[in-house]
Amino acid sequence: MMTLAQYLNHHSANPAVTELITTVTDVGKTISQLLQKGALADILGEAGNQNVQGEEQKKLDVLANDLLLEALADNKHCAGVASEELDHATPANKDGSLLILFDPLDGSSNIDINMAVGTIFSILPYQRQGQISADEDFLQAGNQQLAAGYLLYGTSTVLTLTIDDNVAMFSLDPDSGDYLLIEEQVQISADTSEYAINASNYRYWQPPMQQYIDELIAGKTGVRGRDFNTRWVAAMVGDVHRILCRGGLFTYPFDTKDPNKAGKLRLMYEANPMSLLIERAGGMATDAITRILDIEPTDIHQRVPVVLGSKNEVAYVKQLHSAHNES
Ligand code: F6P
Ligand code: MN
Repeated sequence: MMTLAQYLNHHSANPAVTELITTVTDVGKTISQLLQKGALADILGEAGNQNVQGEEQKKLDVLANDLLLEALADNKHCAGVASEELDHATPANKDGSLLILFDPLDGSSNIDINMAVGTIFSILPYQRQGQISADEDFLQAGNQQLAAGYLLYGTSTVLTLTIDDNVAMFSLDPDSGDYLLIEEQVQISADTSEYAINASNYRYWQPPMQQYIDELIAGKTGVRGRDFNTRWVAAMVGDVHRILCRGGLFTYPFDTKDPNKAGKLRLMYEANPMSLLIERAGGMATDAITRILDIEPTDIHQRVPVVLGSKNEVAYVKQLHSAHNES
């Protein structure tokens, strides 16, 4: 089987990107080992402080963030690092040609219950080589990403990566410690009967999203004429992985639950890398109006509504929103 190192050799045109991915995936092995030990490694529970988003940090959020930061600061290609857990980006090596953003531990509420969590990352070019990087350098649209991917710490640890036109999946072999290629050209079916949404927020959604979910719930008896099924991992990384494996629609839509938040998910280190993977696998990713990858960011921590997955289903959600906005 092909190792990640061999795959990168064949597919990555940029040696700096290769080295950065190697650093992130090496840290992923350590996080994976810690998660396997769970309570025995004293990694569960609260860290006792909040991140910039006002969310309680878990011990493992902090630990994963520190491990990634430390390893990336030592990588000569890395000019700066931005993370869900850091108020501002941290400059690294000013002569580096790359910037990296990450969500060190996605799905934190799953840590303490032994359920799937992940690490999401996005790699961007650095335009001011030789000068110290700042938050503004990261404010590039998702269509500028040089590479993106996630590590899913589930029943096995899986790396999903895009560095060229393809999306590839690797499984971490606990015996050899290598990531081994399990699928080279991941493709998502255009149609699906599975959808993922936290329906407890129904009353906060906009009318087109309420209409869409009403239609799915009506199933055979409604306008869609067939039944749909819900799946919700409560970690975006898990829901996106399922969609890359067998199709589906995932959404965390616009809601009015908290007027300060346009949605729950963060554009730069959650929505953008996942949207690149989904599009390269033949799917679609939108905020219900605009292609996510074309949104020009104004803040490294900005939030965005997300609808992604099987192309025809996502296009239908977008159509319902357009029809509503035009009426
Ligand atoms: O990072 C935010 C996140 O944990 C996602 O991974 C996940 O999809 C979502 O929040 C879960 O939200 P909720 O708590 O509403 O189920
Ligand atoms: Mn997250």
